[in-house]
Amino acid sequence: MSETKTSGDIMAAENSEQRERVIEMLAKAYWMEIETVMSYIAGSVNPDGVRAREIVESLEGDIDEELGHARQFAARIKELYGVVPGSLDFSAEQTFLQPPEEQTNIVHIIKGVIEAETGAIEHYTRIIEETEGVDPVTQDMVIAILRDEQGHRRLFEGYLREFEQD
Ligand SMILES: [Fe+2]
Ligand SMILES: [Fe+2]
Repeated sequence: MSETKTSGDIMAAENSEQRERVIEMLAKAYWMEIETVMSYIAGSVNPDGVRAREIVESLEGDIDEELGHARQFAARIKELYGVVPGSLDFSAEQTFLQPPEEQTNIVHIIKGVIEAETGAIEHYTRIIEETEGVDPVTQDMVIAILRDEQGHRRLFEGYLREFEQD
């Protein structure tokens, strides 16, 4: 993105172009969170076996957190005079979080979660860059969400190390 940045009020009429860009990025973030909720519900229900317990419980907790993120992104879209998109605009992207052949394949889920969290971390980092000096409120919100995603990824990186040791 090479457009020049206008400083000042993101909600001002003269900043509408910039605001549209932010809204577009927020909409993508919203869909990412919604898809993550779907994938984590499946990932918290499908697994079989004793070793799955920790992962299942961890994902159960994350579902509410990711849903909370989706709602924050939606609310911010509205505040910026945007419209939260309808479900027909949704297109799935998480090929890596489809259920494995074997429901005891926990490593598949762990790796999928790490990839989803990494995607979120990359996109949210771009939003933080895009809103720098332009929209501190969106930036502040996304910084807090980014921290959650870093925490999720860190946790699952630990699980992966343990599972790959056995
Ligand atoms: Fe999230
Ligand atoms: Fe997350």
